[in-house]
Amino acid sequence: MTAALVTQNLTDPSIAAGVLKSGQLVAFATETVYGLGADATNSKAVAKVFEAKKRPAFDPLIVHVTDATAAQQVASTWPPIAADLAAAFWPGPLTMVLPKRDHISDLVTSGLPGVGIRVPKHPLAQSLLQHFAGPVVAPSANLFGSISPTTAEHVRHGLSGRIAAVLDGGACDVGVESTVVSLMDTRPVILRPGGLAQEDIEQITGPIKIATANSHLDDSAQPAPGMLSRHYAPQTRLLLIDVEADAIPENDGRWGLLTHGTDFHSEQTATNQNGLATPSKNIQFQEIQSLGSTKDLPTCAANFFAGLRSLDAANLDAIIARKFPTHGLGIALNDRLKRAAAR
Ligand code: TXA
Ligand code: MG
Repeated sequence: MTAALVTQNLTDPSIAAGVLKSGQLVAFATETVYGLGADATNSKAVAKVFEAKKRPAFDPLIVHVTDATAAQQVASTWPPIAADLAAAFWPGPLTMVLPKRDHISDLVTSGLPGVGIRVPKHPLAQSLLQHFAGPVVAPSANLFGSISPTTAEHVRHGLSGRIAAVLDGGACDVGVESTVVSLMDTRPVILRPGGLAQEDIEQITGPIKIATANSHLDDSAQPAPGMLSRHYAPQTRLLLIDVEADAIPENDGRWGLLTHGTDFHSEQTATNQNGLATPSKNIQFQEIQSLGSTKDLPTCAANFFAGLRSLDAANLDAIIARKFPTHGLGIALNDRLKRAAAR
């Protein structure tokens, strides 16, 4: 057991870069979620990431770099499709998995031949990487399996005393993790839906599949190793419903609702201040988190983890969550909900 650290609050990226250089862990704002940074070339520092997060070693880490040129120091090949995707979406919420160079340790990739690489857009993350002048591994800055952090306060909630510092850049704009695309085979495959919509990627790649647990049956890639069925999990039981509020069981306990605007099959599920009004039931909720209109899925995504976290802190018996439409960022949000609901 390592001694508890005093987790410093930082706003200066040059100081944060110095802490990283000394082999310590610094959580930092990115546009997706907060990352838990460590020097990717220092195996001891990388090992500390797994320890601080209580993360199993089979779950590989994403390497963060300043730009596509720096990415080519991490990847051993740079096919035209990587160049095209980088030109279109970097900096931004896209992680590309490419064959790794030998100097990237197996600890980073969990022994896999590919390495996940991302160029974050958040100005503070960019500045940190510029000052650090090297690759930085960064998983989401939460304890393994728990809700991803979208503010510095969320990071402290889970990791205070376990990491050296948090570089505070305010609330994350995108709010869900990056989309992970594998370029290890001839056809690109989405390993994790995320903050960059599939439709946007397909503008560059043409039709592309999302890997599922059964993908090997239809000859496409395995899902990302970190895609455990139970993930992003609140402590409180979470029930996922489609659109029918009538699917909610009768219960006189303390219920919370994670919902969104009413333009999605609205007749059956009109939300009002008291909760879900249905023809047969009018269920009262102790707390309602409405994330935004489904016409504005980026706003729903930006509010998603904070909304889930707030409900989880409200001492409820269960949280009801409504699914999102299955396009754009709705796909990533439904993926996170499904994992949060898994038991
Ligand atoms: O937006 C994000 O991606 C955030 C910010 C901090 O950049 N990072 C993040 O990291 O979400 P993490 O570790 O929580 O999730 C990364 C996931 C892993 O669980 C794994 O599923 C996949 O990305 N991944 C990473 N490296 C991979 C590799 N070499 N091969 C296949 N999948 C990989
Ligand atoms: Mg994570």
